[in-house]
Amino acid sequence: MKKNKLFVACDTTSIKKIKKIITETQSSNLKVGYKFGLEFLNSKNGRTFVSKVKNKTIFADLKLHDIPNTCASAIKAIKDLKVDYLTIHISSGLDALKAAKKVSGKIKLIGVTILTSLDNKALKEIGFNKDVKKIVHHQAKLASKAKLDAIVCSAQEVKIVKKVFKKEIITPGIRFSSITNDQKRTLTPKQAYRNGATWLVVGRDITKGNIKKNIKKLIDHLNQ
Ligand code: C5P
Repeated sequence: MKKNKLFVACDTTSIKKIKKIITETQSSNLKVGYKFGLEFLNSKNGRTFVSKVKNKTIFADLKLHDIPNTCASAIKAIKDLKVDYLTIHISSGLDALKAAKKVSGKIKLIGVTILTSLDNKALKEIGFNKDVKKIVHHQAKLASKAKLDAIVCSAQEVKIVKKVFKKEIITPGIRFSSITNDQKRTLTPKQAYRNGATWLVVGRDITKGNIKKNIKKLIDHLNQ
């Protein structure tokens, strides 16, 4: 049977904690990759640590959001890390997405849609008039046009995205505990895979508390 794919969000500045996360999330039931975001990659030793990780699927969640030249230059600057996946906000615009794709080479370029921490009320506050689902659908079409390799969206929008984007779909905002924290558009792991997500991203539900127990809880939830 095909294994469910999971990126564990390694959101910390502690190398010791990252090592513990990597050791304790090994599972024969799941294909596990590791996501390093703004917190770890901006920490003093984070970048060097990631450059030395071997034989793991690595996702650099840089969430680039800038003009085409800067996005492309940032990708060139991170190439030595040999990461497998890298994020750019689709709202950077088509030219920036194309410029990024042109230089990304073997790195799979992931377009980030509307953050899972935003709901319709928050979008209105920013000045967007369309609702989340319409914007995400629109952004997925743009990602397709720019030939991106994957999309990040809420698991709630996977079915909408699938209509216009045929490659990998990666979903954060996953909860199998009752605590949503700052996330607004959440679903359970089971619902997310059922909707057609290729990879889930899970951070705090795995990394807070007893990591081994949390992984077991996730596997039990998937087998229920
Ligand atoms: O702890 P939690 O499971 O909420 O972590 C989710 C992770 O996914 C965080 O590292 C966050 O930066 C990332 N992410 C997200 N929403 C997006 C894109 C990335 O939550 N749209």
